[in-house]
Amino acid sequence: MASDQTGPGSPQAGHQKPIGVFDSGVGGLSVLKALQAELPHERFVYLADSANAPYGERGDSYVAARTHAISDYLLRTHGIKALVVACNTATAAAIHEVRSAHPTLPLVGVEPALKPAVAATRTGRIGVIGTRGTLGSTKFNKLLDSVRSQASWVVQPCDGLAHAIERSVAPPPSDAEGPDVGATETGALCTKYLQAMGKFGKSPGQIDTLVLGCTHYIFVAHELRALAGPHVQLIETGQPVARQTRRLLESAGLLSPENQQTTQSAELRLLTTGAVEMLEAAALRWMGISSDQCQHVAV
Ligand code: DGL
Repeated sequence: MASDQTGPGSPQAGHQKPIGVFDSGVGGLSVLKALQAELPHERFVYLADSANAPYGERGDSYVAARTHAISDYLLRTHGIKALVVACNTATAAAIHEVRSAHPTLPLVGVEPALKPAVAATRTGRIGVIGTRGTLGSTKFNKLLDSVRSQASWVVQPCDGLAHAIERSVAPPPSDAEGPDVGATETGALCTKYLQAMGKFGKSPGQIDTLVLGCTHYIFVAHELRALAGPHVQLIETGQPVARQTRRLLESAGLLSPENQQTTQSAELRLLTTGAVEMLEAAALRWMGISSDQCQHVAV
């Protein structure tokens, strides 16, 4: 467990401070992985608000309040030099408010990658899955309006899917039979929602491109591919977010020098408002990170 903390009063140079990354839970680990690949010399502090997940069906004011509390905590307690809101739902509900509250902080949010999907589709029919909060937001609907005429769109909120993914990380109860107990609920939800969207495939009129508008969903990519077929393109946001973070750090003069000695496990701290074992299990299962840097925090 890590014990040293870097407060705002620390003598550390700006570029040595960590980048904060947060999500309602384990979904943002997918973005963290892309950030580590793009920015291997940086330190990261990841916060999973698992005690309060899922955000998707909670409403904007709740999600905005959590986003403020977590941003303030990461700035105050960890002296972060930039913040990545690795959650579509929190970005839609609150990124503009966080930007007003911290105007000089390099800030990156995530939103469903509709423009890359337009570039990728061959049939011209694109599916978008996300939380009810994201897909019902003004921000998302403005984005959709900007590309609406360029494809035919099928937008499907997936109530319960992010929560089921969170739960699927937990080890099965000791009296459970077989290893697939945790996967059953996610599989049933993916089946229900993809069936509701219509036909997937390469033929005209079929959906050939599926936008993952929630950072949790990449962790059920195998189930989505099995249901939608091997040719369907899954579009997620980790890499573009990582490249945008690099651009912002560069222009603020906050990028860590490439000659800085780092080892990724030492430069990553994992925090959760929920169960430490769950975040550790997700980091190991989905990122291959065996972390002794995981700790519970109350925010
Ligand atoms: N991973 C989040 C997103 O990208 C939130 C999912 C949830 O908590 O409902 O929207």
